[in-house]
Amino acid sequence: MTTVAKLFETMEYGPAPESDAPALEWLKQHDNARFGHFMNGRWVAPAEGQYFETINPATKAVLARVAQGSKTDVDVAVAAANAAAPIWAGLTPHARARFLYALAREVQRHSRLLAVLESMDNGKPIRETRDLDIPLVARHFYHHAGWAQLRDSEFPGSVPVGVVGQIIPWNFPLLMVAWKVAPALAAGNTVILKPAEFTPLTALCFAEIARAAGLPAGVFNVVTGDGATGKALVEHPDVQKIAFTGSTEVGRIIRKATAGSGKKLTLELGGKSPFIVFEDADLDSVVEGVVDAIWFNQGQVCCAGSRLLVQEGVADRLTQKLRARMEKLRVGSPLDKAVDMGAIVAPVQLERIRGLVEQGVEEGAKMWQPSWACPTEGYFYPPTLFTDVSPAATIAQVEIFGPVLVSMTFRTPKEAVELANNTPYGLAASVWTENINLALDVAPKLKAGVVWINSTNLFDAAAGFGGYRESGFGREGGREGMYEYLQLPIADFGLRNDELQAPTRAIANPQSAIANPQSSLVPPIDRTYKLFIGGKQVRPDQGYSRKIVGPDGRVLGEVAEGNRKDVRNAVEAAHAAEGWGRASGHLRAQILYFIAENLATRADEFAAKVGRQEVDASIARLFTYAAWADKWDGAVHHTPIRGVTLAMNEPVGVIGIAAPDDVPLLGFVSLVAPAVALGNTVIVIPSEPQPIAATEFYTVLETSDVPDGVINVITGAKDPLAKVLAEHDDVDGMWYFGNAAGVKAVELASAANMKRTWTSARTRDWLDTRQGEGREFLRRATEVKNVWIPYGE
Ligand code: NAI
Repeated sequence: MTTVAKLFETMEYGPAPESDAPALEWLKQHDNARFGHFMNGRWVAPAEGQYFETINPATKAVLARVAQGSKTDVDVAVAAANAAAPIWAGLTPHARARFLYALAREVQRHSRLLAVLESMDNGKPIRETRDLDIPLVARHFYHHAGWAQLRDSEFPGSVPVGVVGQIIPWNFPLLMVAWKVAPALAAGNTVILKPAEFTPLTALCFAEIARAAGLPAGVFNVVTGDGATGKALVEHPDVQKIAFTGSTEVGRIIRKATAGSGKKLTLELGGKSPFIVFEDADLDSVVEGVVDAIWFNQGQVCCAGSRLLVQEGVADRLTQKLRARMEKLRVGSPLDKAVDMGAIVAPVQLERIRGLVEQGVEEGAKMWQPSWACPTEGYFYPPTLFTDVSPAATIAQVEIFGPVLVSMTFRTPKEAVELANNTPYGLAASVWTENINLALDVAPKLKAGVVWINSTNLFDAAAGFGGYRESGFGREGGREGMYEYLQLPIADFGLRNDELQAPTRAIANPQSAIANPQSSLVPPIDRTYKLFIGGKQVRPDQGYSRKIVGPDGRVLGEVAEGNRKDVRNAVEAAHAAEGWGRASGHLRAQILYFIAENLATRADEFAAKVGRQEVDASIARLFTYAAWADKWDGAVHHTPIRGVTLAMNEPVGVIGIAAPDDVPLLGFVSLVAPAVALGNTVIVIPSEPQPIAATEFYTVLETSDVPDGVINVITGAKDPLAKVLAEHDDVDGMWYFGNAAGVKAVELASAANMKRTWTSARTRDWLDTRQGEGREFLRRATEVKNVWIPYGE
């Protein structure tokens, strides 16, 4: 038997188990650990009578049997959420705030049960569930009680999206419930949540807690099941938004499944986040940072710092220190309060980790694990460190989702940034240096939604979280996160996709309205407009052009017929111009004013093509975005955990724009101006039937000091060209204004690199400043990067 005296002698940790009794008791109370779905405020047996088991991965014991959701079950849940939608949306913001506040309080009241249940179902240490997961869950509900209260003043005119389907993974089961549910409810939506099949228990427990808090029936529903259940939810026609966290692979399937459906979508996907250590960093802090970055939650963290990038001079020293620390890490029963790492969630994940580690060794990297052995009764895996890893190795590229760290070295800050960005992902990064200048120089260069300085894996409800590139799109938390659950007035004109019309704005002034009536007698000068790429007028790749005919049948000119190769060249030019994103807002404003000035000088000429009203509105719009260029500020969040968090607005990067057909100049300017004002570079496909205003407009650009490649114009067949742009891996965002089939094609094609899309097949009155300009355009042109900075400690 272990005695205190003996422990004192060996300095071994004694066992410090948290009791599993309350959780087992709770399970037993529920039909002897058999759970139906939670719908419309009560437990409902699955329509097809199917159940599956959920286990404790640390012991392999079966914890409960849980309903396998069928399509019928999803239908019932969606009907319940639909029925509850007007009731919930009809409450005052204050009433919803009171419910969210009550949820926070109830979570705190049940925190012990939730923490134990979570540890048992997932395998994560009780220290993490007790001290991090559950407190953060409560914090999320408190914070969003605030957004619920402020919704109408802070998001004026907004309405909830409606019925929301939320699909979550198993790595932070209850925390993901909170991240998804709190903003959805605060905005006034009703929810159907599908937890991960490995870890459904805390979501079910939360459903009961929500009922105890008095949440009206049908506002929050849980349907359990596997991917098939998730698929049924994604495809349900009455679900207006899908929020998903999980693998990039499934994210891509969901992107394709929702393409063209009009459903709102946010995807929070995988990562391979860099953990950058410069040689002046405090290496002892770095070691503790690494422990938090990759051994927290057994490395099953989407933003885990899984790639350690170390400056050469300190690499060996850091490796030694890390090995010494790893030797002291404790892997064992998740309910033991003195354990650092628990079990891997399921055998399939354990096998995946093993397989990737073997591959790493086969590909020549050096693997190191501590000398002690893991417990054998559950699914455990030891902390693992790879050195001598080549940047192209599988383990350096693929998300391992386990306690496996791969390390590489670099020489200069430039090399560090290149290595860090050498991944299709862009979720998070952390930077370690005692030099604040260096840290703040590197942070903006990292393609990541979150950057932690001398810290890692910090989360808070006030700071948005989410990625770039294949890590998905949309943000969770903070103000940004609320936008994902609201319809803002500008985006909604009360039309559904099936009510789409041809543009109703009569082309207020067709191109036939040539000022001089005699012009129809005079043969026009034969003018063939070229493409505009990299600041130059260039012939299209194939040399073809198309005739542009006015409403009266007269040929107005010819424009180049762009093709795939031209798009490629334009994307290259747009990338080469990325320095534009680093130019000051002031400079960008100056150039937009200059464009406006030059357009004004030629106003009559343009008015002859598109009408005076459109020209005047275009000039005004250029002024609007010149005004915004140095005012679209970020925010400083007062996150309670540590220091301050800077929410920095960054350009999306290279944006493809398919402009609307109906207002050829104003539609073009309304989209191009906000994009370039905020530092993006663009490839624009102008109106297909009326491209000449845009091709003339590039001659204005030529005289306005716009740097080469910032604005590129490709004329031709709009939908095929838009598809090429949407498919292009080096295009970061795609805006499409056209028809429903085009919307669908663009959204489908965008799944390849998960570029963020902004699509619309609705008519919009571009002359109306409430519809044709404003904050929505600015938000679409920006990514928010949250940079966590130690401050005041
Ligand atoms: P997954 O992406 O398959 O599962 C996440 C959720 O999506 C679960 O609730 C699942 O039931 C649901 N789902 C699966 N297929 C679906 C479909 N076709 N339509 C709708 N919903 C569907 O992730 P999985 O299989 O659990 O883990 C596989 C790998 O994914 C991990 O090894 C890891 O690399 C990555 N992953 C990343 C996460 C992250 O937060 N970034 C979280 C979980 C997994």
